[in-house]
Amino acid sequence: MSLAEFKKSRWFKLVWWIPALLIAFVVVVLVANWLRGLPAVADFIEQYPGKDPANETATPGFPAWLAWQHVLNAFFILFVIKSGILIRTVKRPAAYWTRNNTGLLRTKGEPVRISLNHWFHVGIDTLWLLNGIVFYVLLFVTDQWVRIVPRSWDVFPHALSTAIQYASLHWPAETGWVNYNALQVLAYFATVFIAAPLAIITGLRMVPGLADRFKPIERIYPVNLARLLHFPIMLYFLLFIFVHVFLVLTTGAINNLNHMYAIRNDDSWLGLIWFGVSIVVMAVAWVALRPSILTMIASLGGKVRR
Ligand code: HEM
Ligand code: HEM
Repeated sequence: MSLAEFKKSRWFKLVWWIPALLIAFVVVVLVANWLRGLPAVADFIEQYPGKDPANETATPGFPAWLAWQHVLNAFFILFVIKSGILIRTVKRPAAYWTRNNTGLLRTKGEPVRISLNHWFHVGIDTLWLLNGIVFYVLLFVTDQWVRIVPRSWDVFPHALSTAIQYASLHWPAETGWVNYNALQVLAYFATVFIAAPLAIITGLRMVPGLADRFKPIERIYPVNLARLLHFPIMLYFLLFIFVHVFLVLTTGAINNLNHMYAIRNDDSWLGLIWFGVSIVVMAVAWVALRPSILTMIASLGGKVRR
């Protein structure tokens, strides 16, 4: 590539973006450190160190079901996002699926015909949703909900304090085993109790076949509104997952992974090993779930045609 070509290519934008982001990062770190030097801010951080005692669980540690829910959720959402992006980007799908015309997805006697990507998305959504329902129920029949639901207004000053501490690069001590910091509480709450329900109500509104049944409420909840919101909700999930996994890996990876993947609070390698196994399973499924295999599975409940 000549210099003139490079200047026209989209990579040229990086020449500006990378230094701009680096400068912004350095400015944020410097400002946060300057803030922490001010006596008032230092007092504030001492008063609100970052963890709201109201979010401390009575039973420290994680139950096994929570670890299973979390790893299954990560597995399903990978394919929810993959199939969602395929729906959006593939303009001429390789195959279509027509449901054997029975049951819920029947539209005025006509069988529903959708692309194989739609079929995959809605199928995986169903598994993700079932996993989520079990998660909700178990959260509230145990005391685990206490960890991820804000329970006093103090969560906000604690979250601000945590943000300043992260930005100054002097990170708060990790005590996720008994109490998440307030930023974690807010992020987990927003993901579990706001983003996931929004993805579901906007997604269900668009399910081919089901969409027709919502016709009576088209005026108050038009399908186009659901279509408009569904994509930005995915962008939120992508942002959350990126920051979440980045922080898990940079704030004491071994210990954090032990919490969620091996249910222990020590320095063993088990958490990392199980995390590695879960990544391998995802990679194998990614390769295995190619169109020919999806076609085979989809054929069980309908006809697949090109
Ligand atoms: C595969 C990559 C992932 C890794 C390595 C990971 C790791 C972790 C770890 C270590 C914790 C506990 C944090 C601590 O003890 O301080 C945690 C909690 C959590 N993660 Fe993830 N996570 C991943 C993907 C996801 C995804 C995809 C979601 C949701 C979209 C998610 C949502 C959550 C939630 C809601 C919690 C709090 C759970 C509770 O205590 O009820 N994670 N994660
Ligand atoms: C129960 C949950 C869900 C259901 C029932 C559902 C359903 C649907 C349906 C029917 C479509 C096709 C829309 C159309 O024909 O235009 C769609 C598109 C899509 N879905 Fe979902 N969805 C769910 C959850 C999710 C989640 C959790 C994500 C991402 C985290 C996601 C990401 C996407 C994306 C990116 C598209 C393409 C949107 C576009 O073309 O702008 N979905 N979803």
